[in-house]
Amino acid sequence: MEKNQPDLNWEDLTFSYMPTDYNVRCTYRDGAWGPIEVSDSPEVNLSIAATCLHYGQESFEGLKAYRGKDGKVRIFRMEENAKRFIRSAEGTMMQPMPVELFCEMVRKVVKLNLRFVPPYGTGASLYIRPLEIGITARVGVKPATEYMVIMLVTPVGPYFKTGFKPMRVCISRDYDRVAPKGTGSIKVGGNYGASLVAGEKAHDLGYASLLYLDPKEKKYVDECGAANFFGVKDGTYVTPASPSILPSITNLSLRQLAEDMGLKVEQRHIPVEELSTFEEASACGTAAVCSPIAEIDDLDTGAKYVYTTTGEPGPVTTALYNKLRGIQWGEEPDEHGWCEILEED
Ligand code: PLP
Ligand code: COI
Repeated sequence: MEKNQPDLNWEDLTFSYMPTDYNVRCTYRDGAWGPIEVSDSPEVNLSIAATCLHYGQESFEGLKAYRGKDGKVRIFRMEENAKRFIRSAEGTMMQPMPVELFCEMVRKVVKLNLRFVPPYGTGASLYIRPLEIGITARVGVKPATEYMVIMLVTPVGPYFKTGFKPMRVCISRDYDRVAPKGTGSIKVGGNYGASLVAGEKAHDLGYASLLYLDPKEKKYVDECGAANFFGVKDGTYVTPASPSILPSITNLSLRQLAEDMGLKVEQRHIPVEELSTFEEASACGTAAVCSPIAEIDDLDTGAKYVYTTTGEPGPVTTALYNKLRGIQWGEEPDEHGWCEILEED
């Protein structure tokens, strides 16, 4: 265990930012990525005309490191985040960062902040937030020629206040997160800016999130706030196939675990009416792993889809959640080789 740990109540952490010791940065300039630089400043020095500030050349990632039962630090599926980071760069005309350089930066930023990796058993983890920005000064709408990748870390607790307790979400056809052929399948800041009004409206009405329908026809279930959606019925795990959702690495992992558990897995359109047929429903993503859904209220039609009245999540969601958390915390065998154990030297 790391000496000199910060004086934090690890169990009480929420999903929020706190400064840590270091961040790492790497700049693309003159056609090449430079060295990985270490900074102890939480600030960036940027041209006021940088393309990220004007034309949305920005993307980000989110992944976690966990202090396991055996005391080792595990980083979960970072190559998948590296690949998605490349797709996000390509979708906004930014310079893609090679997978190996991305992984090297992740290892380095975790190592530099080891004392902030929450102890095993607290339920908290170290959230790693890589981001890329276009930094060339321009006023014409054109991509930058220079880019910066920054990775920061912050210790976090559960994303939703309720933790692994079923939440209420709502449907509204008044809002879209993304356009039908837009940027929904990549992780760019603009998608989140565009979701803030809808998110606040849902919160004001007492819901944890808004469940978006597909932006083209409003017929199918799309994303659940900033997370993927899955439902369970008749021994089947069903999750939307949609060009406007972000391919979630948590969902990818849960689909594999569902299959391992003998469930059928379907990735397909989910008509909104089918919500009435699920036995269980949940959101999923890195921050919360699974956020079970107690009830979905359709604000436009008045329909209510209720999945639990006891306040407890369903058995399949619970089993999947426990299995994935067990792998991340080194309590269960990592049969698919998803965790990299950090060499702490
Ligand atoms: N969908 C959106 C819009 C997200 O922002 C996220 C979070 O990263 C997810 C889904 C879940 O993806 P992942 O499981 O890779 O964290
Ligand atoms: C997730 O990690 O599940 C998210 O939704 C990321 C969010 C904080 C942007």
